[in-house]
Amino acid sequence: MIKAVIFDLDGVIVSTDELHYQSWKKIADDENIYFDKIINHKLRGVSRMDSLNIILGYASKTYSEDEKINLATNKNDIYVELLKQLDQKDILPNVVETLKGLKSKGIFIAIGSSSKNAKPILRRIGLIDMFDVIADGNDIKHSKPAPDVFLVAAERLGVNPNSCMVVEDAMAGIKAAKNAKMIAVAVSEAKNSEIADYRLDNLKDLLLII
Ligand code: BG6
Ligand code: MG
Repeated sequence: MIKAVIFDLDGVIVSTDELHYQSWKKIADDENIYFDKIINHKLRGVSRMDSLNIILGYASKTYSEDEKINLATNKNDIYVELLKQLDQKDILPNVVETLKGLKSKGIFIAIGSSSKNAKPILRRIGLIDMFDVIADGNDIKHSKPAPDVFLVAAERLGVNPNSCMVVEDAMAGIKAAKNAKMIAVAVSEAKNSEIADYRLDNLKDLLLII
């Protein structure tokens, strides 16, 4: 029986994809590294440093650890500046009614995000108080596809992993959910995943499967 739903944040609750893309694009252009929206898809659900390493895979030179830290810091500075434009209009369709519907069924709701900016983002879109638990990139060493962020969320909720459902838009996130032995629900870009337990066109269909 499902007792909790753990939501990924970026691409499931809120549309930050374009802001991540613009920030990485600036870094890549300054470094003369080819970067486009197809490469950007590979960064979904992946931590900041792992994302940088994917981008640097297209570079013609190698980067030292210090250079990598500088680039990741610069990307985050640009991203945090862009986040100032984020507000309730960026909440994705059907999110609020789905969260309210789950709450009215007595289901716990949590965030399981790779982002270290998850809390400021939730504050900006006015949803921070909706969630029973928030687990994010600050709580873990190993990012998705490792199960860690979802296991932290389940532990804080006091719910067994096998009673948790995860909603994800990233292949890495679906793998993380399965690695955590949770039910994986794919939306958006993750819908091609063969290992997801459910694939939804509309988030509010979650209320039909719980
Ligand atoms: C994930 C995004 O939610 O967070 C990734 O899908 C991003 O694209 C990752 O790289 C880390 O985010 P942040 O905010 O800590 O740089
Ligand atoms: Mg995501």
